[in-house]
Amino acid sequence: MGHIVILTGAGLSAESGLGTFRDKEGLWTRYDIDEVATPQGFARNPGLVHEFYNARRANCRQAQPNPAHIALADLQHFAADRVTLITQNVDDLLERAGASDVIHMHGHLTGALCAACEHRWTAPDTMSIADACPSCGQHSTRPDVVWFGEIPYHMDKIDTALATADLFVAIGTSGNVYPAAGFVQDASARGARTLELNLAHSAITPLFDETRLGPASKIVPKWVAEIQQ
Ligand code: APR
Repeated sequence: MGHIVILTGAGLSAESGLGTFRDKEGLWTRYDIDEVATPQGFARNPGLVHEFYNARRANCRQAQPNPAHIALADLQHFAADRVTLITQNVDDLLERAGASDVIHMHGHLTGALCAACEHRWTAPDTMSIADACPSCGQHSTRPDVVWFGEIPYHMDKIDTALATADLFVAIGTSGNVYPAAGFVQDASARGARTLELNLAHSAITPLFDETRLGPASKIVPKWVAEIQQ
């Protein structure tokens, strides 16, 4: 088993009850991205943005890892240095399933960031505009998540992983948001085989060598068991 690079999206956590963004009832069908997931929206109405992420943080606390998170954590324990886990998700369900060194390219709900001095700390259960940064004292605290129009985190680490991937696997992502949606082409251009695990065909299905359809809680453990043989 060579180096496996895994990219996960909201579909990985859908069966844990966290919902997705673009499926029916998805978050973006109920909230305006511009208002709650852009720096401009935060500047206009930080209280609304804190409310949005406080609600997602509460959902996340109540959610439990599902068999797909557990299978990926088991795979990492089985082949530690040969598995790179990249997630677009801001939940901590992979870590709570036992995974480590998960690359959160869109940040994480459990993190807080000071927009003034860039200090980072563990987010309280609820954040508000009244919070002061524990380091500089300014009232400019925000969730440590990457909003539209901002640069995703850890791109250098991700690029190195894609360059050395023997197998690239995308799990539960619609392939609508770049740069993540372009990773399959990066990996494939540099010689990796590519596999998509999803409930339905995505915008990038044609770019994969193989696509398997089904709920992540079923098809991810099955795939992990297969490659551990
Ligand atoms: N099992 C597997 N896949 C599933 C399941 C499931 N139970 N339920 C839904 N899916 C798949 C859908 O078929 C879809 O392809 O999960 C994907 C969800 O797509 P999106 O809602 O677009 O989520 P994602 O691809 O992670 O979005 C990427 O967009 O809004 C930004 O920052 C946000 O990280 C997010 C990024």
